[in-house]
Amino acid sequence: MPFQQYALEPLPRAQVETGRALKSLIEETVVSDNKSLTLTDTVAGKTTQLPILRGSLGSPCLDISKVPKDLGYFTYDSGFTATASCKSAVAYIDGDAGVLLYRGYPIEQLAKHSTFTEVAYLLINGELPTTTQLDAFDHTVTHHTMMHEAFKSFMQGFRHDAHPMAMLCGMLGSLAAFYHDDLNLHDPEQRRMAAIRLLAKVPTIAAACYRHSIGWPGRYPRNNLNYVDRFLHMMFEVPSEPLQLNPVAAKALDLLFILHADHEQNASTSTVRLVGSTGANPYACVAAGVAALWGPAHGGANEAVLKMLEEIGRPEDVATAIDRAKDKNSGFRLMGFGHRVYKNYDPRAAIIREMTHKVLAELGVNDPMLEVALRLEQAALKDDYFVSRKLYPNVDFYSGLIYKALNIPTEMFTVMFAIARTAGWVAHWLEQQVDPEAKIGRPRQIYTGAVARDYVALDQR
Ligand code: CMC
Repeated sequence: MPFQQYALEPLPRAQVETGRALKSLIEETVVSDNKSLTLTDTVAGKTTQLPILRGSLGSPCLDISKVPKDLGYFTYDSGFTATASCKSAVAYIDGDAGVLLYRGYPIEQLAKHSTFTEVAYLLINGELPTTTQLDAFDHTVTHHTMMHEAFKSFMQGFRHDAHPMAMLCGMLGSLAAFYHDDLNLHDPEQRRMAAIRLLAKVPTIAAACYRHSIGWPGRYPRNNLNYVDRFLHMMFEVPSEPLQLNPVAAKALDLLFILHADHEQNASTSTVRLVGSTGANPYACVAAGVAALWGPAHGGANEAVLKMLEEIGRPEDVATAIDRAKDKNSGFRLMGFGHRVYKNYDPRAAIIREMTHKVLAELGVNDPMLEVALRLEQAALKDDYFVSRKLYPNVDFYSGLIYKALNIPTEMFTVMFAIARTAGWVAHWLEQQVDPEAKIGRPRQIYTGAVARDYVALDQR
């Protein structure tokens, strides 16, 4: 039957005309009061009111949810550069001022005074714990670090050279198979336990991935150690002799975990929330977050930074690297530079920069890559291309150098990021589960494909 005979009614004008930008509409608007913005499409004679939503800090937001219904337009914002996807009380970033707050506490203060476990408690529960609360939290996390023995055979299925992020993603996803049937997402205690299990087991899985890749026998988590020491033990202890933990290394790792613990609605956290919005199992949500984190534009940047520094090789070759990064045709970017939100120095980078010098000195590491990194940073900060685009070093520019000094292999860098970010992911997932305004995440699109056409039989094409 030819298409025309059962052609659909033409779509309403507003849905087919995708060409008119919202910008032209906005030129026709007036701010009616401090609470809403009135948007009028004078051509179609339609009006809508956009409520102005204000958080406790940050730019006000226009609530555009009624625009499609009232005006017949969707809004377009590729990469969500201007769109808030949720209300959240977990973290706050002021990108222009270089400010990062976890539950209101400046990252600099947490980096100086807190520990990763305390920060995880803070992110998950909203307040700093008392000693009793922290002890209880630590005890619960510690007693959920073990994995089911069946995980060993699951792990054996990976080739020795599998990337640890691929293994981590698979292993975390498989947790859903172990804790699915009895998980009632409407029960706050069960949700809390899922969050704790994730936080507790992710270092165990991460260390197991590393040991599998180098052919070492697995190590069970030790309950007498704190979160970071336990992880280092599982990573580096060999059966033949006890491991002497270096307190400088442990402190540095704890700091890196604090700095990476959350960063509001970044790509991986938004992924966790998007998957979470469907009611999926939290282990599957976090596995999806790991997949999103892996990309070099996000958490994979720490691995990419070190590879880039090694590729540059010598301080005298920094100028050539800068030129390549400025050449759009080279396909090369300065990894560890730039940030979607920070248009000022990333406050985490400032803390890590200082820590890198200290750690390398205290561990007695003389890494020539540090010299390359410093030269690169200096050159970029003086170069108009980077200055005019507000491209400053980000958290990942220096973290790889510390990981390297701690003998953590390059492929594990993003896994380290994932361990820390699990605290943020579960905090956001928990928050989303009780958000009365939460809906399944389902963006729109501007369709640019073929208009409706008739199927042509194979022999007539
Ligand atoms: N090197 C060279 N040029 C760059 C870089 C860079 N690292 N980053 C951005 N630019 C240029 C880009 O080419 C563009 O130039 P123009 O205006 O002439 O077209 C301009 O700066 C704006 O870039 P953008 O890609 O539109 O910015 P974005 O906000 O979409 O991207 C970013 C942010 C982090 C993906 C990007 O800066 C980047 O690719 N950086 C390197 C990767 C990296 O270090 N990622 C880790 C981010 S921090 C860790 C985390 O939170 O996950």
